[in-house]
Amino acid sequence: VAPLKVGIAGLGTVGAEVVRLIEAQARVLAGRSGRGIRVVAVTARSKAKKRGIDLRGVEWVRDPMALATHPGIDCFVELMGGAGDPALSAVEAALSAGKSVVTANKALLAKHGLKLAKAAEKHGGALNYEAAVGAAIPVIKTLREGLAGTGINRVYGILNGTCNYILTRMEQEGLSFAECLADAQRLGYAEANPSFDVDGHDTAQKLAILASLAFGTKVAQSAVYVEGISSIAPEDLRAAADLGYRVKLLGVAVRTAKGIEQRVHPTMVPKSSSIAQVMGVTNAVTIDGEGIPPITLVGPGAGGAATASAVVADIADVARGIRANPFGRPISQLRDTKKAPMERH
Ligand code: HSE
Repeated sequence: VAPLKVGIAGLGTVGAEVVRLIEAQARVLAGRSGRGIRVVAVTARSKAKKRGIDLRGVEWVRDPMALATHPGIDCFVELMGGAGDPALSAVEAALSAGKSVVTANKALLAKHGLKLAKAAEKHGGALNYEAAVGAAIPVIKTLREGLAGTGINRVYGILNGTCNYILTRMEQEGLSFAECLADAQRLGYAEANPSFDVDGHDTAQKLAILASLAFGTKVAQSAVYVEGISSIAPEDLRAAADLGYRVKLLGVAVRTAKGIEQRVHPTMVPKSSSIAQVMGVTNAVTIDGEGIPPITLVGPGAGGAATASAVVADIADVARGIRANPFGRPISQLRDTKKAPMERH
């Protein structure tokens, strides 16, 4: 069988690690997929930048659009980020050309996921995005495949590594918000614009995606109530600690009598609770399914290696010929999402 020919747009921390991992894991991946996986073309802002990866024999394409429609690739891997162009047009073009797309771009999916899923459905390509939520944690597959036969009542958790890292260090070391954020940026956890992290929008985007998978609703970031952590100071965390609590930025999507409520805000959680034990860049997602005890997935939620791990697994699925409905159901079966009124819990 011919190898899967992959084009990668974006060679930052994640993109470079994807190239390295495909090479390092070549035998295992070929074994799983029944065929090889080859990176044949790439595009990125700077050709000169040192990345520590071997790109000999890989074609350098001038821009994302040219790569997305490149006749020599089967699978377009979008790792540029951002809800708008060039990511949006490039992903649309790749899907319209019948190619499969793998992306880690939660902003793009939360805003245009429905439109992109329609294009994937129409033209037959896959649209895989495991890395968009919880990085290496296989939460998309868990909701979409693993729990396909289970009704979901609630999904909640810590979905932003940067915020949890900041809250952890502020609490444990008494450091200022700004110092902790600078470290999260240095470690490659934060978004290009870190206000997306600290103002809760990154969590909202991920929550909107999880809610769609859990409840069969059309993904809609605008349906999420959002409050971030930027006004929290070390004293607030100390005051919470004195009362036996920790502060965590939680995303919660829950089925209520009035619709699907989706909200993101700092929450006081008892120190003895399992969610309070989730520290640093770690993410945790709990899924309450009907008739079964809750399932919690915990793992690295940000960073190059953790994100690349999920991207490569998605590419392996494309190589194997697995094609899921991006949001678990045909588009025609997804329901409209309204902003449900908030209830007291
Ligand atoms: N900025 C994100 C985070 C990266 O901190 O969780 C992973 O989506």
